[in-house]
Amino acid sequence: MSAKLIDGKSIADTLQQELRSRVAGITASGRRAPALATLLVGADPASHVYVRNKRLACERIGVRSLPLEFGSGISQAELLAEIERLNNDPEVDGILVQLPLPAQIDSTAIIEAIRPDKDVDGFHPYNLGRLAQRQPVLRPCTPFGVIEMLRRSGETFYGRRAIVVGASNHVGRPMGLELLLAGATTTVCHRFTRDLADEVARAEIVIVAVGKPGFIKGDWIAPGATVVDIGINRLPDGKLCGDVEFDVARQRAARITPVPGGVGPMTVTMLMHNTVLAATR
Ligand code: GUN
Repeated sequence: MSAKLIDGKSIADTLQQELRSRVAGITASGRRAPALATLLVGADPASHVYVRNKRLACERIGVRSLPLEFGSGISQAELLAEIERLNNDPEVDGILVQLPLPAQIDSTAIIEAIRPDKDVDGFHPYNLGRLAQRQPVLRPCTPFGVIEMLRRSGETFYGRRAIVVGASNHVGRPMGLELLLAGATTTVCHRFTRDLADEVARAEIVIVAVGKPGFIKGDWIAPGATVVDIGINRLPDGKLCGDVEFDVARQRAARITPVPGGVGPMTVTMLMHNTVLAATR
């Protein structure tokens, strides 16, 4: 068997068209466009690329982008003051602080300072708590994007065995909560999991977010499974690859996401979705 590729790029393009129409409807009715403030601290090249992509997505959809940039020496108090100003600005609907932050800044304190109804990353404990209690409002973009991508490509979740490999605060854990919400029998694996190969082999839906190239061996995948690879790793030759041994996994899975072109485009799309939602609630 050779798996069908799940085309996240094409699903993201469709969703972005839908969002563009919604924003056009908002402005046609005389209201201002949704507005997203993006805060970028320091000179991390990967963060600059991610934030530029987010700002370009705003342009495509008609969301007003407020790009804010700070030197790597900014203090926590200064950054908190900036967030407070944006929290109180009625012209700003969404606030995104790009992570990671420099060592002198406590990321948890920054995330918790953002008003939950402007927290378009969905990282605030209020929003994670709402997701855990099955009443989600603003949902973490990557896990939300995975669910939306799978739904739109015909995947069902009720009663199905799903596994998440990786238990990070911003991806793996909320991914587990999303799968529970969708009705899947959900296992979350992490660095202390024994017999990972056996856990993966039992799953009908395998979602991986560990950040290690080729960490999940292709022959662990059950025949006919759906495989979603959230990892984006840069190899020494400059090429991007995921966390799953793609060529082997592809021979066993029924459906699999490519890297790049799978989950990546969905993440920024769900950020736009959250911004429009924050503006219209
Ligand atoms: N750094 C890497 N991914 C993300 C993300 O989704 N949101 C923020 N704020 N920072 C990140």
